[in-house]
Amino acid sequence: QIEAVGAREILDSRGNPTVEVEVLLDDGIVQRAAVPSGASTGAFEAYELRDGDKSRYGGKGVLKAVEAVIDELGPAIEGMEASEQRVIDEILIEVDGTSNKGRVGANAILGVSLAVAKAAADSSDLPLFRYLGGPNAHLLPVPLFNVINGGEHADNGIDMQEFFLAPIGADTYAESLRWGVETYHVLRSELKAAGYATGLGDEGGFAPDLPSNREGLEFLIKAIEKAGFTPGKDIALGLDVAATEFFKDGVYRLDNKDWTGPELIEYYVGLVNDFPIVTIEDALAEDDWDNWSLLTDALGKKVQLVGDDLFVTNPQRLADGIKRGVANSLLVKVNQIGTLTETFDAVSLAQRSGYTAMLSHRSGETEDTMIADLAVATNAGQIKTGAPARSERVAKYNQLLRIEEELGDAAVFAGASAFPRFSA
Ligand code: PGA
Ligand code: ZN
Repeated sequence: QIEAVGAREILDSRGNPTVEVEVLLDDGIVQRAAVPSGASTGAFEAYELRDGDKSRYGGKGVLKAVEAVIDELGPAIEGMEASEQRVIDEILIEVDGTSNKGRVGANAILGVSLAVAKAAADSSDLPLFRYLGGPNAHLLPVPLFNVINGGEHADNGIDMQEFFLAPIGADTYAESLRWGVETYHVLRSELKAAGYATGLGDEGGFAPDLPSNREGLEFLIKAIEKAGFTPGKDIALGLDVAATEFFKDGVYRLDNKDWTGPELIEYYVGLVNDFPIVTIEDALAEDDWDNWSLLTDALGKKVQLVGDDLFVTNPQRLADGIKRGVANSLLVKVNQIGTLTETFDAVSLAQRSGYTAMLSHRSGETEDTMIADLAVATNAGQIKTGAPARSERVAKYNQLLRIEEELGDAAVFAGASAFPRFSA
């Protein structure tokens, strides 16, 4: 039973305040969860409540959300069984009373929702992934390493936000991690040798001032080969374009040129022909539905098309997209929707509808590793949590090592099967 719920303001990986929640059960168990925060946020995400008091943290404080946990959300669920996750999440949503969690804040609600799950897992003596996923949780995800950072995550001139290495050919998760890390280090030397800066962006990838987005992909291929791997077969590529960020008045601004939707789609077709790309996220803007349809017609059978800003982990927006036949994959960010229950609902809707799902961190992260457990609990087979650098990213990759070890012979690495539309 939930005895008490507490909260505090802590810092995220960008040095911005965020919410941490602690749940105490009557058997003495205490568990805490921390809430992440995005930079290239979608317009349809649940509301992140910030104080707006310019005298603290430039207005980014979260004391109001903390107060809401202590004064409203906690008291509403005290005395309940922590295992009643769905009922608890429903109560949290009702206490807020708005459609976008805008009154008490999705950051307040999510902190409680996640901490409750962790406490329930601990109380039932199960590892979190097994408590959340049951005896069928066994699939270790392909890690998508964001090794070049652009867009809103770096101060360079690259328009696309994320360039991924996806080590799909490995036999185990641990091996895929090693392949990704080895290639990451070679990429650093390659960039350096070519005279580029190797400082890191928000997600631990390098942030060189490359002349074009295509050049980023060329560097990845070079690094994969130099590290001794075969592009496509061992390690495939992926992109998060985050196109909403450079879409204005119906025009996309990429590589210092203006593009219409159809022109940009042609450009993507060219990239997919020239590079072993398994996944492209937010290739178009969050409300450019018509072009999303065209894109899905053009590439949907060959490559994973992920909706991030497009779907915002929202079961309703995803259902709408499925009905329109738009995209074929869901990006899963717990704080976009604000409760664990709704996150599970979005993932299972995707999976029932033939869409894949990729678990995701935010660019502003904490040391909390829960998304690693969620990736295995949902058997999603894919996770993106940055480059293998910076502790808030590496913490998730390390947690997956522990889970693989815990599962032992039952562990299966998703590998290429995570990307059913791709063939090398
Ligand atoms: P964000 O970026 O966390 O800054 O929103 C991540 C993404 O776009 O996938
Ligand atoms: Zn994205």
